[in-house]
Amino acid sequence: MTAKKSFDAPTLEWSKGTVKLIEQTLLPEQEKVVTIRTPKEMWDAIKRLAVRGAPAIGCAAAYGVVLGIHKSKAKTPAALLKEAVKTADYLATSRPTAVNLFWALDRMKSVATLEAKTMDVPTLKQRILDEAHAILEEDKAMCHAIGRNGAKLVTKRNKPFGILTHCNAGGLATSEYGTALAVMYEAHSQKKNIHVYSDETRPLCQGSRLTTWELMRAGVPVTLICDNMAAQVMREGRIDIVVTGADRIAANGDSANKIGTYGVAILAKFHGIPFYIAAPSSTFDLSLKDGSQIPIEERHPEEIKNGFGKWTAPRKAKIYNPAFDVTPAGLIAGIITERGIIEKPNTAKVKKHLA
Ligand code: MRU
Repeated sequence: MTAKKSFDAPTLEWSKGTVKLIEQTLLPEQEKVVTIRTPKEMWDAIKRLAVRGAPAIGCAAAYGVVLGIHKSKAKTPAALLKEAVKTADYLATSRPTAVNLFWALDRMKSVATLEAKTMDVPTLKQRILDEAHAILEEDKAMCHAIGRNGAKLVTKRNKPFGILTHCNAGGLATSEYGTALAVMYEAHSQKKNIHVYSDETRPLCQGSRLTTWELMRAGVPVTLICDNMAAQVMREGRIDIVVTGADRIAANGDSANKIGTYGVAILAKFHGIPFYIAAPSSTFDLSLKDGSQIPIEERHPEEIKNGFGKWTAPRKAKIYNPAFDVTPAGLIAGIITERGIIEKPNTAKVKKHLA
């Protein structure tokens, strides 16, 4: 893996047989683009959060499959298909919670399986690459549509309309523009007077390192708060709505997102503030009846004790580090998708919306 400086780089892109992606672990201090050349490098990039956020992980994994086959010496389409499936199954072991990863890999496998029946090896290689491009382009379109749908919730007025968000569901977490942050970008571009409060999002600080950085660069008014300040900020009347992203949404609307989101939703309910999830249809997992079945990733204890190179707890302290939690549908005022808004989600409404 090599690194070079970049300024306005896309979150990730296919470039001459490699994938270039923004190295998110270095933000906001360093803006670097790294070059990913092999499925193993892509697995590592996903695991260590160099690329992160549910839709971005899906796009990255799709290109990871291409990295596994594009230089293949397979003589038959069946042999190439076998390599593609093996690579996809390997990449699926990188992170467990965001369903977009499995959704994208399943889609890559399905296309390869279908087309291997009729295509020769070079045509099949190109078709697999084209599918990864399609996943990326569709994600861009979905994010922009989510922004347009969500911005309707933001009232135009003189006093700033306060929006609280948690973690990073912005351009860095998607192909571009974001999901939750798309709502803010769109409202801002419509000249609505918004003010975003960005939760820091311990332990890995996606809110301070990524969301605050992204919004500041885009000129969207933003104030950073520590996670434990959200209740006070709500009580002071600064927040009109909460909008976060999601990593997996069960059939009944229960939504997994970055650890701490559930607590924010409870605080919002207490203060009478509507809590919204913004996510594309690729984030729904209709095979799961409810959120209790969503696998929750547990990450390394060092992220809490020694997150950024400084010991902030005794070295031998016992640690529990779940990376996500599930917000029950009952706490969610609506789920904003590229198709519209599912108000007060439940199983019937989710199924109808996605049908
Ligand atoms: O661990 P991360 O940084 O990948 O977690 C990301 C989140 O929880 C995001 O809020 C979610 O993926 C939505 S991204 C549009």
